[in-house]
Amino acid sequence: MSEIPARPHMDPRIDPARLPNHIAIIMDGNGRWAERHGLTRAEGHEAGARGVRLAIEGCREMGIRCLTLYAFSTENWRRSKTEVNVLFRLMSKYIRKEVAEIHKNNIRVRLLGEMDRLPVRAAADLRYCLDLTAGNTAMDVCVALNYGSRTEIARAARLLSEEVADGRLRPEQVDEAAIAARLYAPDHSEVDLLVRTSGELRLSNFLLWQLSYAEIVVTPTLWPDFDKQCLCDAIVEYQLRARRFGGRP
Ligand code: IPE
Ligand code: IPE
Ligand code: MG
Repeated sequence: MSEIPARPHMDPRIDPARLPNHIAIIMDGNGRWAERHGLTRAEGHEAGARGVRLAIEGCREMGIRCLTLYAFSTENWRRSKTEVNVLFRLMSKYIRKEVAEIHKNNIRVRLLGEMDRLPVRAAADLRYCLDLTAGNTAMDVCVALNYGSRTEIARAARLLSEEVADGRLRPEQVDEAAIAARLYAPDHSEVDLLVRTSGELRLSNFLLWQLSYAEIVVTPTLWPDFDKQCLCDAIVEYQLRARRFGGRP
């Protein structure tokens, strides 16, 4: 943590000693934002891409160690081909525009999800960004892309069964730590704060394992309107909660 320069906090209500270590965001509401502004869904997603920059910047400035962003779920393939193409085109555009800045800020980008189904160009841009930033140490930005939590957990189970079948692992060694170690980002298997924008009260197949004891903040704000102040508000709310993890003093 020492390499992050101490910066003034944006919101005096935030206690810098009790920041969440890992924030995860379900970036929802681009479509509704577009509808409200009389724009196309594509324009809504474009506005949403700007919010990604603010979230990363805000977390980096505060010294948050890990930010996980839900960008595209395994279920989002059910959308129209046009919308899916727009989303991946925007992703490529975003990476090419932002990667230098991300790298300069010592941020490591990681992928939660499977590369296999991604359009070729999006996969190549993403691969470039992952490789370029792989050695960075100030903060991790995990992008959940073609991500499904059930797929992730099933994959962990498959890896474990292969290891047991090969004799590399005994069945009694399959415990919580063994499963956590086979998730996409084993070192971020615990989320402290989950934010969902645009008011839906559901997880939509996001980080089912990792959210076990996360504090959940749902805001009616639509993702394209989610700015640094909204991020601070969510952290303030997080800090007002009593996290008990099942225990009592
Ligand atoms: C979030 O906005 C972006 C993705 C899911 C990729 P939506 O597109 O889900 O917006 P709404 O829910 O239709 O408003
Ligand atoms: C969750 O949002 C996925 C992302 C934000 C990437 P959705 O808009 O796809 O979720 P549902 O369909 O409302 O559950
Ligand atoms: Mg949605």
